[in-house]
Amino acid sequence: MSMWEAEEKVARGLAGVVAAVTRISHIDGEKGELSYCGYDATELARNSSFEEVCYLLLHDELPNARQLAAFKQQMLDNRQISPALLELLRNLPGAPKPMDALRTAVSSMSATDSSPSDVSRSANMRRAIRIISQMPTIVATHWRLRQGEKPIDPDPSLGHAANFIYMLFGRAPRDIEARFTDMAMILMAEHGLNASTFAARVTAATLADIYAAFTTAIGTLAGPLHGSANAEAMKMLLEIGSPDKVESYIRGQLMAGKRIMGFGHRVYKTGDPRAMLLREVLATMDGEVGNPRWLSMAMEVEDQAHRQKGLYPNVDFYCAPTLYSLGFPMELFTPLFACSRSVGWAAHILEQYDDNRVIRPDAVYKGAPRRSYIPCEERK
Ligand SMILES: CC(C)(COP(=O)(O)OP(=O)(O)OC[C@H]1O[C@@H](n2cnc3c(N)ncnc32)[C@H](O)[C@@H]1OP(=O)(O)O)[C@@H](O)C(=O)NCCC(=O)NCCS
Repeated sequence: MSMWEAEEKVARGLAGVVAAVTRISHIDGEKGELSYCGYDATELARNSSFEEVCYLLLHDELPNARQLAAFKQQMLDNRQISPALLELLRNLPGAPKPMDALRTAVSSMSATDSSPSDVSRSANMRRAIRIISQMPTIVATHWRLRQGEKPIDPDPSLGHAANFIYMLFGRAPRDIEARFTDMAMILMAEHGLNASTFAARVTAATLADIYAAFTTAIGTLAGPLHGSANAEAMKMLLEIGSPDKVESYIRGQLMAGKRIMGFGHRVYKTGDPRAMLLREVLATMDGEVGNPRWLSMAMEVEDQAHRQKGLYPNVDFYCAPTLYSLGFPMELFTPLFACSRSVGWAAHILEQYDDNRVIRPDAVYKGAPRRSYIPCEERK
């Protein structure tokens, strides 16, 4: 095969390449459907809790009442970060962004692992639950320290999402705030071989430990074409300012060859079901929580992006005004996404360890032809 023929076979961005067999989630891009272990993700978001979905993704089955109670207790028991981790967050050099602090903190958790040589499935499951449970505590602790405020200990009477809000803002959330945050977290919990999950699997496939795989995933999620599209989408809505400016803004962006953040998707061809549900959530915000202005702005952007370029919104687009309305600072949108996706990462890392082969694709070489080494002093 010539180099040119080989180059034609390159799947840029690995589009269309099947790289794993998974039991965790399924996306039907044509129908616009997402399911977790067979259950429609939007149905789970409407009816279950983040903890229940964690159990499902980690164990393949929804828990019964006893199993759920035990699992919730296990998460509660693991929420508190160690004194060493608190010290690390206090003493991070410079003023790292929340995602950078989260990446460093999760990476450091390997140092306090009580049985690092135990690579059994049960030990990795325990580690996964510890990391998932502590990520919101890390994000909230770092955020408060950054604002010059005292960190707040987790409240064991609150669920995972409600406790996150409490640790950030120092007040118990209204039921509706906790519920909407929980729903958003469920919708962001898992999404097949997206970039950060794939990156985590590549790292796990070398048999590097779970901390290394999580660290890889957090670093990958931080990019603007992946997890930080939600904050970029909110910046765009704020920049546009009002619905009457949407049409010219979108036209200007597209003519300048710029991307509309929170739009487009590798897999969904007819729309992202998570975006549709978050649009519904935004529509039910009453003004006390949220501002109806964001819904009309966002729907106008959706309309224009579709008219002008045939684009559909993805989860990040409607997540942005939803989280903004719930009072989350924009800098915390991506860390909240990371806390949600932590469970998907964990499920995939465990699945990779269960049936492992190093992930190592090929590349077509297009560099210089083979040549001989010339000593430095003889080079022109
Ligand atoms: C998500 C994303 C990375 C998928 O990328 P991809 O599958 O590699 O798709 P491509 O980058 O090849 O884009 C295909 C075409 O759609 C266009 N396109 C895709 N997303 C676009 C967007 N958000 N704004 C403007 N044009 C977009 C591309 O310019 C390209 O157009 P062309 O064929 O005229 O050149 C891409 O849609 C994107 O950059 N979106 C914005 C960032 C974002 O929202 N990320 C969160 C993902 S959940």
